[in-house]
Amino acid sequence: MSDPRKLYIKTYGCQMNVYDSERMTEAMTGAGYVGTDSAGDADLILLNTCHIREKAAEKVYSELGRFRALKDANPDLRIGVAGCVAQAEGEEIMRRQPLVDLVVGPQSYHRLPEMEARARAGEKALDTDFPEEDKFDALKRRPRAKRGPTAFLTVQEGCDKFCAFCVVPYTRGAEASRPATRVLEEARDLVERGVREITLLGQNVNAYHGAGEGGDWSLARLIRALAEIDGLERIRFTTSHPNDMSDDLIEAHGTCAKLMPYLHLPVQSGSDRILKRMNRKHTAEGYVRLIERIRAARPDILISGDFIVGFPEETEADFQDTLNLVEEVGYGTAYSFKYSTRPGTPAAERAQVDAAEADARLQRLQALLTRQQRAVQESMVGREVGVLFEKPGRLPGQMVGKSDYLHAVHVAGSGIAPGDIRRVRITESGPNSLAGVAL
Ligand code: 5AD
Ligand code: SF4
Repeated sequence: MSDPRKLYIKTYGCQMNVYDSERMTEAMTGAGYVGTDSAGDADLILLNTCHIREKAAEKVYSELGRFRALKDANPDLRIGVAGCVAQAEGEEIMRRQPLVDLVVGPQSYHRLPEMEARARAGEKALDTDFPEEDKFDALKRRPRAKRGPTAFLTVQEGCDKFCAFCVVPYTRGAEASRPATRVLEEARDLVERGVREITLLGQNVNAYHGAGEGGDWSLARLIRALAEIDGLERIRFTTSHPNDMSDDLIEAHGTCAKLMPYLHLPVQSGSDRILKRMNRKHTAEGYVRLIERIRAARPDILISGDFIVGFPEETEADFQDTLNLVEEVGYGTAYSFKYSTRPGTPAAERAQVDAAEADARLQRLQALLTRQQRAVQESMVGREVGVLFEKPGRLPGQMVGKSDYLHAVHVAGSGIAPGDIRRVRITESGPNSLAGVAL
């Protein structure tokens, strides 16, 4: 038998892309490939791209340009572009960069093995359809292969919310949920392979409404069913929209012990005027009250968020409203971005905020968020938390893992193995992680 071909995937962007890359690797394993960590060894290189950040397409072209030497050295090398940039600009990429053999949009990954065969035969293969069939069901899994203790599992994709700044509804398509039975099957398989924590993924994960026994299931019902799986110890989900934070999901945070006390709930702005222009369909006050209800269900929950500053027409007063909201909520962690235009989205046509002003606001917001993040991290010192250990740390004998609140924690690791969950007393808070002793 000939040696298997090697696949190198470089993944950009969100956790959903990480999950997609894993599934593509598994699918290509069925087509005679093994994964590699080095582009130099590869027979197939895939860039799994993200369109959320600024100049995403330009970064893809510069990365592709760097593969020219590899292609010269190995004429059998095939190069592909996947992900949201592929979806948005696939044909343009094919035209502009002759090195590219294959372009595959996020909803067509199950067609990758067949596309690779075409590319290998010398064709240019492009597929940016939104097919009817569920790609994840059609993508081959690799059962039995051992896994690390944590895994992502995409349960929902796409978005119908059309926030005025966002490309997701265009690149990932309409909101769609996977059937609950399939999700449960995949979760059981992951647990058999060693997984102890599953993070359910979706662009709008709390809008989940997958078909299940007795009709459509909510995310809360799915979580409760997952919690029944022996050996699965922790459940998380991301990313959520405030308007889909249903009562049963809030309640699950109080009643389901396996659901971790961490919630990423982006608000984007604290100004009602800007929220309206963003087409968010909720107010700042509504969001703050929602957080109060979530905290009533689970008082120690760590709240995370996303913010955009410098959205078209944002004034200093609007920005102050964002700072006030941050003060009121108190974030354990947060991601903040300067608004950048996405061609084709409604906000792209509007009057833009002065770039220097937007930079200054971003710095002010980040200073506040960093202060809050530090304070929350420091408040962990002296507390006892659960930690799921993932791997050895940088120092000899050290193990690192994540706390219930998703802080990185390292301990001197006598007798601790990856996959162990231990109670740990936190003794110290460093810049990016906590230190503690296992009890
Ligand atoms: N400009 C800046 N930030 C954006 N995000 C999405 N689109 C844009 C854009 N055009 C941010 C939002 C979202 C996160 C994933 O990325 O805050 O929640
Ligand atoms: Fe984009 Fe999220 Fe808004 Fe959907 S809800 S349009 S994914 S920011």
